[in-house]
Amino acid sequence: MRTKIVAGNWKMNKTLPEAIQLINDLKSMVKPDKSVEVIIAPSYVNLPKAVELLNDFPIKVSAQNMHFADHGAYTGEVSADMLKAIGVETVILGHSERRAYFNETDDILQNKAHKAYEKQMTNIFCVGEQLEDRQAGKHFDVVKNQLSKALFALPLQAYKKIIIAYEPVWAIGTGETATPSQAQEMHHFIRESLAKKYGRELASHVRILYGGSVKPANAAEIFAQPDVDGGLIGGASLNAKDFNAIIEAAKS
Ligand code: PGA
Repeated sequence: MRTKIVAGNWKMNKTLPEAIQLINDLKSMVKPDKSVEVIIAPSYVNLPKAVELLNDFPIKVSAQNMHFADHGAYTGEVSADMLKAIGVETVILGHSERRAYFNETDDILQNKAHKAYEKQMTNIFCVGEQLEDRQAGKHFDVVKNQLSKALFALPLQAYKKIIIAYEPVWAIGTGETATPSQAQEMHHFIRESLAKKYGRELASHVRILYGGSVKPANAAEIFAQPDVDGGLIGGASLNAKDFNAIIEAAKS
């Protein structure tokens, strides 16, 4: 049995007062349940406050990114140790917006994934194809490539702290969702790829989240797919009522 995860990626949204409001709303609405782990990823500047406010509540706090170096002349960047020092033990890596707008390559992501492993951080690692990849029937190859280049050099024990998020780029923020069967098909493919590389036992334990226009109205159907272990939620995580409804849809 894999415990489901609902993670909210706030992206570049919410000032500090707005973030405080949203976290307090979530604390009053969300009914913790052992069948679902809940994670939120506010922007860097709001992380310390989020950690403080959620100290007494079972919602984990994640960063949206980090650098692969320990420290040094990398203006504007944040290291794993900086995150850990404020109590953040989880990081989203390889989000398609990082890949597209900030030129994060598979090589960079391999370094970041290694750093997360070295620092024992939970790594929510994103993969997903562009629309033209899918139209050309190359979506499985693209995702397999992203996985193998960034993650498959890691040892088996690294997967205790790896969560994979499948986010087809054409479904992110577009209102267009992969159908439940498209999601299941890719999640199954990812699990099979893990099984081939690391064995079936490991593959059966890794959580694979779906991301891309998950909303209260479609969450239950997507989460009901056998290889879908929850969701990485963008837009709908910015509204406490919607995010809570998605958490409820993941409960079993
Ligand atoms: P979305 O974003 O839910 O707004 O489509 C998902 C994501 O990018 O993680």
